[in-house]
Amino acid sequence: MLNGKRILLIIGGGIAAFKALDLIRRLRERGASVTPVLTQAGSEFVTPLSVSALAGMKVYRDLFDLTDEAEMGHIQLSRSADLVLVAPATADLMAKMAQGMANDLASTLLLATDTPVMIAPAMNVRMWDHPATQRNLATLRADGITVIGPNDGDMACGEFGPGRMAEPLEIVAALEGALRAGPLAGKRVLVTSGPTHEPIDPVRYIANRSSGAQGTALGAALAASGAEVVFVTGPADVAPPAGVQVVRVQTAQQMLEAVQAALPCDAAVFAAAVADWRVASASDRKLKKTRDGMPKLDFAENPDILATVSQMTQGRPALVVGFAAETNDVVENATAKRKRKGCDWIVANDVSPETGIMGGTENAVHLVSDAGVEDWPRMGKDAVAQELAARIAAALE
Ligand code: CTP
Repeated sequence: MLNGKRILLIIGGGIAAFKALDLIRRLRERGASVTPVLTQAGSEFVTPLSVSALAGMKVYRDLFDLTDEAEMGHIQLSRSADLVLVAPATADLMAKMAQGMANDLASTLLLATDTPVMIAPAMNVRMWDHPATQRNLATLRADGITVIGPNDGDMACGEFGPGRMAEPLEIVAALEGALRAGPLAGKRVLVTSGPTHEPIDPVRYIANRSSGAQGTALGAALAASGAEVVFVTGPADVAPPAGVQVVRVQTAQQMLEAVQAALPCDAAVFAAAVADWRVASASDRKLKKTRDGMPKLDFAENPDILATVSQMTQGRPALVVGFAAETNDVVENATAKRKRKGCDWIVANDVSPETGIMGGTENAVHLVSDAGVEDWPRMGKDAVAQELAARIAAALE
């Protein structure tokens, strides 16, 4: 999540400048505002009109534009952002930055800024490997500048190797990491969410009514509190939250594997409605109607992911939170479930159809922990998520 973050984006003159257009979209999708600065060389590759249309803002281009100096001087421009991002950072821009030159708007802003600076270099392989560029790179790193990429790959110049600008989503992830703030900053939290689908044959499956709404709200609230969130989701109805690492799975077995791969983490919250059983021998061909009657399905028990993680003897997250979806004796069942599975907290809710909770927008939960049972009033799933995120932050302090 980059809600309300102000990014000053300097677009240098390289073929990768076209990716800066997508980058602007991605940043704005996540709630950031982007103030674009286009170098003269940059405007040979992308037009100021496309940049300003996507940013929804004027493009700054000239150091000596007096209107800008009257409206917003270059010093103010360089300091009005939460982060300055140079993408693409050309060999020339990197050399200017390393030397502390200030002979155009971009280099002057970079010298005058007091906010964190990140660069996403993009250039020909030989230029990248050149000792001069590598010297400049070392200087920039020593100056505290964060470097994203470059990646290996085919390049527009026909060569192969390091020099391709990092992809927009990789740059966004790096920015999110750098701008993370809040009570969960520096904490890694795993969330499972959504239903699982257990195949009967290649076209049919067993599922449940979980929409993924509560898990998604929780992932968003944890990310907004500064956590690095790994979000393992089954096929949910709602889109996963922004600003989290999404791992998509279908079955309980895949969910367990994804959870294990995501460890270690500081806290793990199991909001997924995992199917308790799978079809023991799912057919690899579509089952056909036969004269011999109905197909017979044999079930096998799925691994209990929450219990597996709760009972880890090494590397167990400091806080493990389970959910309990019940239709009767909610608190009694949840209390027993907490003991049986070995988790620290259970968030219990009544999912009887008349509550409208499963698949709905509200939730009424009981928080069961060592300290006893708390009954929370019925509220929106977002509000439940925010309260839980605050409790998790307090528990991890
Ligand atoms: N859970 C899990 N793996 C499973 C089943 C459940 O991780 N195979 C987790 C859920 O994500 C939830 C908690 O265990 O956090 C409780 O899920 P729930 O469906 O309420 O309980 P069950 O274990 O299925 O127990 P029961 O069928 O007795 O209600």
